[in-house]
Amino acid sequence: MDVSRKTAPRPYSGYYLRDVPEPDAELTRTGPGTPMGELMRRFWQPVCLSSELTDLPHAIRVLGEDLVAFRDKRGEIGVLLRHCSHRGTSLEYGIVSERGIRCCYHGWLFDIDGTVLETPGEPPDSGMKDTLRHGAYPAREYRGLVFAYMGPPDEQLEFPILDTYGKPDNEMVPYSVWHPCNWLQVKENFVDPAHAYFLHSTITTVQFSNAWAEMPTFDWDETPDRQGMYYITARRVDGRVWVRSNHIWLPNVGQVGALLEKAEKEKFFNRVSITRWTVPIDDMHTWIIGWRHFNKDVDPFDEGRRDECGPGSVDFEGQTGNRSYEERQRVPGDWDAQVSQREIAVHALEHLGYTDGGVAMWRRLLRRAVRGEMEVTAQRSRADGDPLHTYTHDTVLEIAETPDEDARRLKAVGRDVLEAILSGDAYEGEARRSHIRKALGEVKAKYGVPA
Ligand code: FES
Ligand SMILES: [Fe+2]
Repeated sequence: MDVSRKTAPRPYSGYYLRDVPEPDAELTRTGPGTPMGELMRRFWQPVCLSSELTDLPHAIRVLGEDLVAFRDKRGEIGVLLRHCSHRGTSLEYGIVSERGIRCCYHGWLFDIDGTVLETPGEPPDSGMKDTLRHGAYPAREYRGLVFAYMGPPDEQLEFPILDTYGKPDNEMVPYSVWHPCNWLQVKENFVDPAHAYFLHSTITTVQFSNAWAEMPTFDWDETPDRQGMYYITARRVDGRVWVRSNHIWLPNVGQVGALLEKAEKEKFFNRVSITRWTVPIDDMHTWIIGWRHFNKDVDPFDEGRRDECGPGSVDFEGQTGNRSYEERQRVPGDWDAQVSQREIAVHALEHLGYTDGGVAMWRRLLRRAVRGEMEVTAQRSRADGDPLHTYTHDTVLEIAETPDEDARRLKAVGRDVLEAILSGDAYEGEARRSHIRKALGEVKAKYGVPA
């Protein structure tokens, strides 16, 4: 009997609804040669933390490829195919050398770019090393993270610098979190602001702060360059309206506003507490790798815990599988909700509703990109060398509640706040901030109730 959840006989229709169709291969498969995998390989991806490169090699798996990362004794970083070109021994057992890494089995020595430097068992007149190359990817380090470029060499982009890195009191602490599930469902959490009200605030306990326990209005839009998207939520918190947007862009980067935002006072375009990539290990496993940002704007009460951020851990509730099963069942967090959507969430079994507008928009955007229906210019450095503009923010405006205030009015405040922020795109640095401040002042005046 071919039935769906809408047509199944009821009650007790489990017998008819037990089949699990195949996942959406176009968006979830990222191995070599897959459309999504090829898209991701066009961008610098973080592959581990600098602190994980010790005097020993570090085995990593990225986009379904087994690799080894190491820092040679000159301090240069190599990211090589993990299995030796001689007879396949893993270079995780290699010896980190002055220049490159030496395989433990028969001593072949590989430079960071894959050049075969020595094949010591071969006769002196052997030309073997000069005719072979070992697979390697360009790597670079930035603020405690190691990035690799795994795409075609002639398409390599400059490493992108975002506007949020340069804030003077901004401390960026690297971290990573392992997820035994597909990358896409981890990424989609970003454009699902409804879960913050339910999972984080009202279903069990308040996991972040009370301000989150107010149901916001929801809105989503693509960024003006159509290379990413953001959500726009607006909530009333006492005599203030708190507007927040989280921005994600192609194919797998995003930034989060203040984690523990309390909307306790007026704030104009406060920036990010997390920058993170959602990097497929393979189709069933995913790293979140990025930085926690600590500064006075996003953590005014000094609640962040730098010492809890590092390989495999981050300092806020429910983000890892490191808690006991019982604890995770009693107070489930993001990690439990996402990982348990199945190893690869099956879109054919979902029923997307109003609050899933962002998920649907993100999938449409990804599909356009993997099908080549748009040019993906996200993360391209700008010709003038200025950092890339990003839009994640928390803005809190003192706007008194009117007797007839409804969701439509709050949503309009959210839209106007976003427009004010976008109007800053014509400026850079401090000029951009001060333009946005002024434009947000005008939004406040528009909705303000004269005393
Ligand atoms: S297997 Fe690596 S040198 Fe022989
Ligand atoms: Fe969350």
